[in-house]
Amino acid sequence: MKHYLSVNDIDSLNHWVKEALKLKQQPIQREIGAGKTLGLLFFNNSLRTRLSTQKAAMNLGMESIVMNFNNEGWALEFEEGVVMDQGKSEHIKEAAQVISQYCDIIAIRAFPTLTDKEKDRAEEVLSGFKKYASVPIVNMESSIGHPLQALADAITIEEYKTKERPKVVLSWAPHPRALPHAVANSFVQMMQKSDVDFVITHPKGYELDPEITKDSKIETDQMNAFQNADFVYVKNWSSFKDYGKVINQDPNWTISNKQMSQTNKAKFMHCLPVRRNVVVADEVLDSDQSIVIHQANNRTYSAQLVLKKILEGLK
Ligand code: CP
Repeated sequence: MKHYLSVNDIDSLNHWVKEALKLKQQPIQREIGAGKTLGLLFFNNSLRTRLSTQKAAMNLGMESIVMNFNNEGWALEFEEGVVMDQGKSEHIKEAAQVISQYCDIIAIRAFPTLTDKEKDRAEEVLSGFKKYASVPIVNMESSIGHPLQALADAITIEEYKTKERPKVVLSWAPHPRALPHAVANSFVQMMQKSDVDFVITHPKGYELDPEITKDSKIETDQMNAFQNADFVYVKNWSSFKDYGKVINQDPNWTISNKQMSQTNKAKFMHCLPVRRNVVVADEVLDSDQSIVIHQANNRTYSAQLVLKKILEGLK
């Protein structure tokens, strides 16, 4: 595998999940990445992605170097042919080529603007690095996808499922700020690749990009959607149609025992960070049904599998 940019870079999900679970049993494989360097470039904040990806690199014997572009790096210009007489100090053309000389793999986190839909869909930062870097690129959450999270989610569902074809519900929940669509998008794509009965539920106006949801089932009655669910995956996202806007903060959509009582003792999932008693009530997050901590643990094995596959491709 050359790059890991989206869920579509997974050639066989079944094999990947099995391999990740095997890695989890025996994570220390330092010979695979010995002498190799992972560069982690952050244009936005992180806790899990930063630490789990570094931990994955350590398990594989890689060294990792981290740069926070927001407060450490030169402001990068991504447009071609521009007269750089304003605030941007360095062009992606030089930056990507230079970093490629220091790193064997470059991992990037760059969130959307949520104000310019076309720019976000073009994945300016990720695409810029892919175009000008000479080493593989890993997506640590871009404008439209978070495929490392989605792989960890698929691993977690495999571990916790108690039937061959579980019912999985992706539910929107309220949040005071406008959040990206990336986690929801990649989760939808992952569930489309999985053998699950999948339903998306959200209030009217919160439809995700139809190019992502395709023919996935959508139900705007949350209580109906939760009926007999085995897993509920909860996430806020801003409006896609009224791009980047918060158009509804209905507290009735906050996940509490009211919704969970409709389910088949469903496992509660969230990518974290999560706002307690806004997105989900304490009574759910602190219950035995919540598997969010296990889910976050699987971020290490998701990242480790991806790095391992890329390192194998470098040979
Ligand atoms: N879920 C996730 O990506 O967490 P961080 O934003 O903390 O990396």
